[in-house]
Amino acid sequence: MTHFLDIHKTSPQDLRSIIDTAAAMKARRAGLPKGTPDEDQPLKNHMVALIFEKPSTRTRISFDVGVRQMGGQTMVLSGKDMQLGHGETIADTARVLSRYVDLIMIRTFEEQTLLEMAEYASVPVINGLTDRTHPCQIMADVLTFEEHNGPIKGKKVVWSGDGNNVFASFAHAAKQFDFDLTFTGPETLQPEPALDGLYTTERDPMKAVEGADLVVTDTWVSMHDPQSARERRHNQLRGYQVNTQLMSAAKDDALFMHCLPAHRDDEATSEVMDGPNSVIWDEAENRLHAQKAIMRHCLGR
Ligand code: CP
Ligand code: NVA
Repeated sequence: MTHFLDIHKTSPQDLRSIIDTAAAMKARRAGLPKGTPDEDQPLKNHMVALIFEKPSTRTRISFDVGVRQMGGQTMVLSGKDMQLGHGETIADTARVLSRYVDLIMIRTFEEQTLLEMAEYASVPVINGLTDRTHPCQIMADVLTFEEHNGPIKGKKVVWSGDGNNVFASFAHAAKQFDFDLTFTGPETLQPEPALDGLYTTERDPMKAVEGADLVVTDTWVSMHDPQSARERRHNQLRGYQVNTQLMSAAKDDALFMHCLPAHRDDEATSEVMDGPNSVIWDEAENRLHAQKAIMRHCLGR
């Protein structure tokens, strides 16, 4: 069974092949209306369940469109409308879904839910974000980086802000794709210890971004964070905002990325988000292409 649960659980060779497949598939359909079926129809006759226990715009729509372009059919399911949200176990849900569909994508809270789904499903399971990681996002980010600035191997990526789930997948990617990753953010929001050794820390954001090829940030309050922590987090993270001053300390051609949704003028200014170094819209588009390649990988198509 080929799941896609986390970047460090997929081999560097397979990750490279997914990125290359995504780039090739994207190139083949350049300029076509979004509903145009892919010629090879790799997911023909396949049913895909997309389960969401948290809100989503990009993940929901890009997976749905991607499956349809590849000739498959989707069901977009809200966790709370399923028995899963009313006490049925994850294991039983996984066993039942496996009798109806060929692939499961789930966005959930605890990582354990994803892992149990994968353990008991007899079809591939894809991680559409948990409290701990967001691997599909970082596959899109690698694709985006390489489209604009060439191979990511050996490049310097700087994360400014909260050491959250999106950062964790960047840390896994740093090892698998062999790039340098620097974290700049407050000690109180340091990434989890399990990621130690995958990145370096520099508390001074201006120093951290020196020589950066890519500057990345994300929301200061994630979906799994209590709203009550909002003010405290804002106070801790204010100094790590990505603004033109910070970007000017990076390389001239440094890219800016944000997985979105953004809180404009909190974690990044609109000037940066809409500025010449920002590739956030390509990044969002590439969710579609990267995930199509991930689904092909999982289904061996
Ligand atoms: N970046 C991302 O995963 O966006 P959504 O929450 O809209 O899916
Ligand atoms: N860190 C954010 C990412 C959203 C796509 C969250 O988990 O809410």
